[in-house]
Amino acid sequence: MPLQVTSDSVNVTLEGGRFVSLPHLWLRDNCGCKDCRIEQTMEKRFLLHSVPLDLIPKSARYENDVLNLIWPDDHETAYAGEDIRALIGSQASSARLWGSEFRPKYVDYAAFINDDASAAVAIDDFLEHGAIILADMPTEPNTLEALSSRVGPMREMPFARIHEVKLDPTGYNVAHTALPLPPHNDFASMSWPPSIQALHMLANSCPGGESVIVDGWAVAEALRRDEPDMFDVLCKVPVTHRMFSDNIETLSSNPLIRTDSENRVCHLRFSNQLMQPMNPLQPRVVEFYRAFRELSRRLLHKDARAVFRLEAGHCLLVAGHRVLHAREAFEPSGERHLQDAYFEHECMRNHLTVIRRRLAQVKE
Ligand SMILES: [Fe+2]
Ligand SMILES: [Zn+2]
Repeated sequence: MPLQVTSDSVNVTLEGGRFVSLPHLWLRDNCGCKDCRIEQTMEKRFLLHSVPLDLIPKSARYENDVLNLIWPDDHETAYAGEDIRALIGSQASSARLWGSEFRPKYVDYAAFINDDASAAVAIDDFLEHGAIILADMPTEPNTLEALSSRVGPMREMPFARIHEVKLDPTGYNVAHTALPLPPHNDFASMSWPPSIQALHMLANSCPGGESVIVDGWAVAEALRRDEPDMFDVLCKVPVTHRMFSDNIETLSSNPLIRTDSENRVCHLRFSNQLMQPMNPLQPRVVEFYRAFRELSRRLLHKDARAVFRLEAGHCLLVAGHRVLHAREAFEPSGERHLQDAYFEHECMRNHLTVIRRRLAQVKE
């Protein structure tokens, strides 16, 4: 196969026809030999500053789908073509955005906990849509602890490890009243809010109080398409949020929208109830308020709201940096008791990797 060594890269057309340009320092840094890796752990041991900046291999050959390199100090590195092809594969987001027509998939709780194949399907669905409902979950308090094996570890948070949401005349938050709760994500008052929230309904005999969820990424992406300047100001201007009680303080300042290195929305922060007045003299406040008003209008629009009822034994899981949750007002004539706990999105994703590895071993 034709191969060309330039001053900074090895250019090669891999089997399958894909042309790649591989920087010399990348090729040296990722050497997988037993001197460059810790054999026991597979961790990298090689330190890049131990070679010169203008490093060039003295020999490079691509044969039988293996790229072989010899460096000026005679160190040898080999890359399997399949490993390079795996790295350059598409990094497309698996997120599928939705509107009011969406209903979370219902997954049997026992199957989710006990059966790897069912858990894998459910986690996949969660990664795509940012919401699923576990059904027939025991209604004993603190059953949320059992989710750790699939979603955990549980994230310890201020106020409580597992939060109680029921009527409480001394409560620190609107959730402890029977008032409607507009769409929000929890802990907007922290720099890194929990990226999964589990809402476990233990009892719900009150009329009203339907659950509402909103795909915040869908709304943010539509805002970017229609009003790019508003989107930009929401990505730049920090907003302070605060949640507190007599003994606990949480407060942080961050823009409402964050994008990732691919410029995709990766975090929408929205909690009208926790938002604090900003310094009115800071730049772009006029612009910010116009954009915030528009974001707020869109997030609360009926076309964005997926509405359903959480019954006792249902546990709604939402991706905390994406899906906002809300509750309609309820009539406090019966019992309504919800428990909340928090997890991290990447831990759930990593559980899926391990589950898939286990399922592949069973097949072999
Ligand atoms: Fe909440
Ligand atoms: Zn090496």
